[in-house]
Amino acid sequence: MNPIEQSDPVLWQAICQEQNRQDSTLELIASENHVSPAVLAAAATPLTNKYAEGYPGKRYYGGCEFIDVIENLARDRAKALFGCDHVNVQPHSGSQANQAVFLAALNPGDTILGLHLDHGGHLTHGKSVNISGRWFKAFHYTLDPKTERIDMAHVQRIARECKPKLIITGASAYPRLWDFAAFAEIAHEVGAVQMADIAHFAGLVATGLHPSPVPHSEFVTTTTHKTLRGPRSGMTMCKADWAKKLDSAVFPGLQGGPLMHIIAAKAAAFGEAQQPAFKTYCEQILKNAKVLAEALMGHGYRLVSGGTDNHLMLVDLRAKSPNLTGAAVELWLQNAGVIVNKNMVPFDTRKAMETSGIRVGTPALTTRGLKEPEMKKVAEWFDRAASSGGDAQVLQKVRDEVTEFTRSYPLPHLTCSGT
Ligand SMILES: Cc1ncc(COP(=O)(O)O)c(C=O)c1O
Repeated sequence: MNPIEQSDPVLWQAICQEQNRQDSTLELIASENHVSPAVLAAAATPLTNKYAEGYPGKRYYGGCEFIDVIENLARDRAKALFGCDHVNVQPHSGSQANQAVFLAALNPGDTILGLHLDHGGHLTHGKSVNISGRWFKAFHYTLDPKTERIDMAHVQRIARECKPKLIITGASAYPRLWDFAAFAEIAHEVGAVQMADIAHFAGLVATGLHPSPVPHSEFVTTTTHKTLRGPRSGMTMCKADWAKKLDSAVFPGLQGGPLMHIIAAKAAAFGEAQQPAFKTYCEQILKNAKVLAEALMGHGYRLVSGGTDNHLMLVDLRAKSPNLTGAAVELWLQNAGVIVNKNMVPFDTRKAMETSGIRVGTPALTTRGLKEPEMKKVAEWFDRAASSGGDAQVLQKVRDEVTEFTRSYPLPHLTCSGT
């Protein structure tokens, strides 16, 4: 019996319900994944008990001799995976990985330039409500209205005008590849440093399936829980000459004690990502995304930029039916057991809580073992639910089929049995 089951039945019930939800639905949220049993186990170890402020060999607490081994493992594996000079594995999240760069390289009031949130960028790339937009003068580049891709001439024009100290590349909802070398050229011209936030496609970079920003960027940040398939967390990489500033930005600049159980889980995930099977997994993510994109377009949906080069795609619902909103479709799909998130499309006339788009991604389904033929089924369920007008009977029929289907693709690890 799990100790939580015995000591705290109320908490246990909610955990089991969440596990059952994950097990019986199709996870299409592009930023989520299912970790391996080893990563899950590492996150649930007594390492959570330990304070270890500082860095390996230089701690403010006693008893860190094994903690040092674990943090060094995570660092060494990350360096080998990405080929970076230096890495700090202590940021608790992707947001803090970015904040560490701001603290290391900027002063309040400095100018930053990143992709606009409404065009796929992230909150932490200068949105006014975020610390990045409140403490810095944030400018944004947008996508070309025709191609819905990044236009480097436009980026260059804005960079020349606003003269940023930091140029941010990377995004949360951009389905195409990034040309980090072209950004570096602009950054050098205007005297900026480049921060590549590869939170979404880090797994693809680690396996050579997406161009690497490491040679071209002073800083590379990432979450560890998306395509990289580790625990919910972050890390920041940098060139050797920024290493000291970065480390003191993370600690003591931003954080106190590192979450050593999560750093152990990162070490486990990075070890897995070094195996040949992880590259096969990432290749399958891309194959699945291509087939899902084609199948959705076959059902009459328009995809932003006409398709995808990575693990995600943005479905513009208006081509299917002008009245469809992302909020309504997200709810209908959820009732049918297909989990997605509403997302603005470039130049959307609807607000963020309504939207005209849905973002979908293949990392989690690929972890469960789904391949190309199953992607066509997923697209069909998506279409039946999105075209249902919210009809409860239609949604229940899809829900029953999805529940039955998921039984053949069990999650990698179950904490609660018999739920
Ligand atoms: C590009 C990008 N950067 C940063 C983050 C922030 O990560 P976290 O939610 O761990 O703070 C995200 C999360 O979705 C992201 O997509």
